[in-house]
Amino acid sequence: MKIETLRWAHNKLEVIDQRILPSSFEYLSYDSAAAVAEGIRSMVVRGAPAIGVVAAYGVALEALRLSGNLKPIPPLAPPLKGGEPVAEAASLPPFQGEGRGGDGFNSGMEAGFTVLAASRPTAVNLFWALQRMREVWESVSTQTPQQIAQRLLAEAHEIRTEDIRINKAMGANGAALLKDGARVLTHCNAGALATAGWGTALGVFRSAVEAGKRISVIADETRPFLQGARLTAWEMVQENISVTLITDNMAGYMMAQGEIDAVVVGTDRVAANGDVANKIGTYMVAVLARRHNIPFYVACPLSTIDLNVATGKDIPIEERSADEVKGFRATHWAAEGVQIRNPSFDVTPAELVTGLITERGVVLQPDAEKLRRLFAQ
Ligand code: MRU
Repeated sequence: MKIETLRWAHNKLEVIDQRILPSSFEYLSYDSAAAVAEGIRSMVVRGAPAIGVVAAYGVALEALRLSGNLKPIPPLAPPLKGGEPVAEAASLPPFQGEGRGGDGFNSGMEAGFTVLAASRPTAVNLFWALQRMREVWESVSTQTPQQIAQRLLAEAHEIRTEDIRINKAMGANGAALLKDGARVLTHCNAGALATAGWGTALGVFRSAVEAGKRISVIADETRPFLQGARLTAWEMVQENISVTLITDNMAGYMMAQGEIDAVVVGTDRVAANGDVANKIGTYMVAVLARRHNIPFYVACPLSTIDLNVATGKDIPIEERSADEVKGFRATHWAAEGVQIRNPSFDVTPAELVTGLITERGVVLQPDAEKLRRLFAQ
């Protein structure tokens, strides 16, 4: 895999700074929950699964940081005398210091969870990962902060590895849906950069190419943050997968011309009835795809399905800064004083979704009953 979106190095989390791609390539390094939360908020790292994975590392980093700041802990294992454990070993009292019950560690950890949970609202993977880390924390709560930190770090590594494995399974399931020579439109970036690696929608393209299919990708530019132009196009170019960039308002023309065979996008949250929240503009693409009888697929790991929200109406939609619409980076082209809206996601109703591509298979025409059965498998 050529693109390592995030990695653990020198006891820190390193992530590619996606704000400056493709003109610059740089890793930024993180050592606390607050720093990771800021990285998520400011879009250094983005994309639902990637947000979940780095949040898990944020929790582990916070535990490492807090446990390192605590007073030295006496060793749990007693010193060895001539190679033999001392007799009192078995009767050592359980650790009573700054474990789950220790105020400094616990309150620091709670603050870490809170700041991470507030970083972005729409991608459910963030909350999914935080909940998983909390359960692990609770399961080792009687251990020392150092031991808790090591266990949380191991879990973050596991979530990262699992994400890549899931993406490859989804890729194989999705690749089977694409015919040789398919011209496939995608919106935003649901690639290696949006995950721990391989990608969801772009993972489907990678898997199809790996299986020997000729695939050409049409990348929507994806205003206002330009994830399509800056990130998807870059990823595909890195891997020599044919990619053509269009502005968002060209998709209808391309479909009407018969130049698009399928649409595959990622998602930030799927409601219990199959409604799909994804990058703003996805709904428009889905409506156009239905108008032109083009299949509209959503690559979606189970961690992105939120059975706690009944329909797409209940999914919180992030509203981002007006500056993103006013222009790009330092260049502003809109009239000063104009009112601006910047909803960052929209909801595509389940009825427009041809299929959800998951690691457990493809759910055609998703609905509440099919999603319930998917989790029961
Ligand atoms: O605002 P972003 O860049 O985080 O939005 C990302 C998307 O909308 C992706 O399509 C989605 O997270 C799926 S990523 C596999």
